[in-house]
Amino acid sequence: MLVRTHSYETFIAANCQLNDKAQFMTKKDHTWNQAAEGWVDFVRTGKDYFRDCMNNPAAFELIGEIKGQKVLDIACGEGYNTRMLSLKGAHVTGVDNSEILLEHAKQEEYRKPLGITYYQRDASCLDGIPDRSFGVATCFMALMDIQDYELAISEVARILKPDGRFVFSITHPCFEKMNVNGVTIEAQKRYFDKLQETVEWTMGRLTRKFTTTAYHRTLTDYSTALSKNYLLISRMVEPQATEETVRKFPVLKEERKRPQSIIFETVKKVTETSPF
Ligand SMILES: C[S@@+](CC[C@H](N)C(=O)[O-])C[C@H]1O[C@@H](n2cnc3c(N)ncnc32)[C@H](O)[C@@H]1O
Repeated sequence: MLVRTHSYETFIAANCQLNDKAQFMTKKDHTWNQAAEGWVDFVRTGKDYFRDCMNNPAAFELIGEIKGQKVLDIACGEGYNTRMLSLKGAHVTGVDNSEILLEHAKQEEYRKPLGITYYQRDASCLDGIPDRSFGVATCFMALMDIQDYELAISEVARILKPDGRFVFSITHPCFEKMNVNGVTIEAQKRYFDKLQETVEWTMGRLTRKFTTTAYHRTLTDYSTALSKNYLLISRMVEPQATEETVRKFPVLKEERKRPQSIIFETVKKVTETSPF
């Protein structure tokens, strides 16, 4: 639940530049706004086993040492991983286009300050964030939810310094099950189709069910957009659940056999012809 107090509002006005909303174009994402309360409970109460047991250990291993580095966490949501980046000693900025998720992130920053700054931005338009200003950009399990992923990737390339790294995870497009117009489709049956899907978050462990929107694209779609923007894939991981994890959380048993996600590390390699 969002709780606003007078001192909290003052803190936000002074530190988190809520008014910047007015200055820059942002596209509103109503699905994630509507999902916010359910999502925050899911993430913050230890129910996101996929994140805690598989995706985060693998992603943070790829991210490695980031102490003292400037990190932009794109599509940061309520800030769970943004705070993890900050606790590793990075100077972190988080952006998301859901103002309600950002309010939750800012409220947590107010409750336990880590020095994170949050801005409302659509990932495809990071206006106000200067060219070549970050050493690392991250985007955890969100690029498949971002409608204009090609523009988002070009914005990442713009704001990264030369040799800066972009680490991102997505739902594995080869193995996902998609709900398209109420029909469940296994990705391998229509892998090459560009599909908009409705993600129904209905697991029993949720206190509040919710629905979001995602976009199925192929691995080639992502790698083409990356290479067009001088982001070269340097490492890739497909997290696998361990036997111990499956014993603890049987819901992860399929993840012994095939990955739920795929994580990339890419590096910005500037050439004489690159625009940024
Ligand atoms: C599955 S959540 C992941 C959130 C966060 N990265 C995490 O790991 O907790 C997907 C996020 O993508 C954000 N998102 C979707 N489309 C976006 C866009 N076009 N620009 C910025 N954020 C977007 C949503 O608001 C949501 O916070």
